[in-house]
Amino acid sequence: MNVLIIGSGGREFTMAWKIAQSFHCDQLYVAPGNAGTDLFAENVELSMNDFSAIGEFVLQNDIELVVVGPEEPLVKGIRDYFHADDRLKTVAFIGPGQDGAQLEGSKDFSKAFMEKYNIPTAKAKTFTVDSINDGLEYLRKCDFPIVLKADGLAAGKGVIIAGDLETAEKSLRSMLVEEQFGEASRKVLVEEFLAGIELSVFILTDGEDFVVLPEAKDYKRIGEGDTGPNTGGMGAVSPVKFATPGFMEKVKSQVIEPTVQGLKSEGIDYKGFIFIGLMNVAGEPYVIEYNVRMGDPETQVVIPRIKNDFVELLIKAADGKLKGYKLETSPSFATTVVLVSGGYPGSYEKNKSIQGLADVTNALVIHAGTKQQDYEILTNGGRVLAVTGIGDTLEEALKISYHGATNIRWENVYYRKDIGKDILTL
Ligand code: AMP
Ligand code: GLY
Repeated sequence: MNVLIIGSGGREFTMAWKIAQSFHCDQLYVAPGNAGTDLFAENVELSMNDFSAIGEFVLQNDIELVVVGPEEPLVKGIRDYFHADDRLKTVAFIGPGQDGAQLEGSKDFSKAFMEKYNIPTAKAKTFTVDSINDGLEYLRKCDFPIVLKADGLAAGKGVIIAGDLETAEKSLRSMLVEEQFGEASRKVLVEEFLAGIELSVFILTDGEDFVVLPEAKDYKRIGEGDTGPNTGGMGAVSPVKFATPGFMEKVKSQVIEPTVQGLKSEGIDYKGFIFIGLMNVAGEPYVIEYNVRMGDPETQVVIPRIKNDFVELLIKAADGKLKGYKLETSPSFATTVVLVSGGYPGSYEKNKSIQGLADVTNALVIHAGTKQQDYEILTNGGRVLAVTGIGDTLEEALKISYHGATNIRWENVYYRKDIGKDILTL
């Protein structure tokens, strides 16, 4: 069958890499893709939010499976667009409708959902510009640090951890009054701070049943030792030592099952990935956030550990036939190191010529922000490449990732040298 992946980052590259290996995949398209997806798929110049152009392309090219990588088109209703069209609604589709996408699109919605279905999460209260005085009053009674979250999508930047009352008051005002994150911060959640270690858990659900994909840990800060500003993600590892079978059993019974059940009870027909960002607080799982898509760069270590035919898995989820499905996971370790443009996550330059890609032989070089120009590959974003290593141990996988990373060069390339180190010493 013909398959279309929507998106252009490292997550979509990794999905394309895996789908291209499937026995069921004939022609694979990625819209818009990057210089790497071009190696085993056809890139299509379509904007991810132009639903009618995407729909036309799907019809003209006999696409039978659509996989949406990023959250934005889902929150904007791409699946609803497909379902409203008789010619498109039979296409197998991975990603929820607007109703399910609220799990990520509105933190106020997801908090209320978790409270309703008794899913462990940090306590929170929501305020708007009309209730700002109650919000300021509330802050005075809080323990610090406290977490302020913009309700809507804010490209991963809508969370402020305030260490004291003054910072919290200032942040609440700038989010609500000055709309620091635009429309996304018209509502703000003031949330209890959870101290612990974060874990990314992924499921694929058909609305009834689910499979749990390999877990991962990502490294969000730009600087070594988890310092400096947050980024889209600087590296990831899988498996994660502290995700013991006992802990994962708690995640399943306290978080995953009530989430899938809760969606069903709400009448939400959810067919797609759910990425559950968890905090392990003294051995107990608490949900920090839901995302309605896979993680990036977690996908770069999760998918290489899946042995099953990926198209078969996705089709089963889209068709509501996951019951009894057995996911086969490789016991190997996977690590990824993200190579970014100097200056990221602040301003950075694009169009730098990338050298040394062909010198990387035993790692998987995953393209994220790259583009091809004539015979050259150029940087085209903040996060440019991810280098995934697979090994029998975490040390071996990291060695392969880092060996690959040192071979790749462009002006002002930067990557963290300490991915996975915290887990090695746990
Ligand atoms: P989010 O955008 O919800 O993923 O939040 C970004 C980051 O803020 C998370 O990855 C955590 O590191 C941190 N964070 C969010 N909520 C909390 C919380 N309640 N307690 C501690 N840290 C948090
Ligand atoms: N790595 C975190 C995310 O994809 O949101």
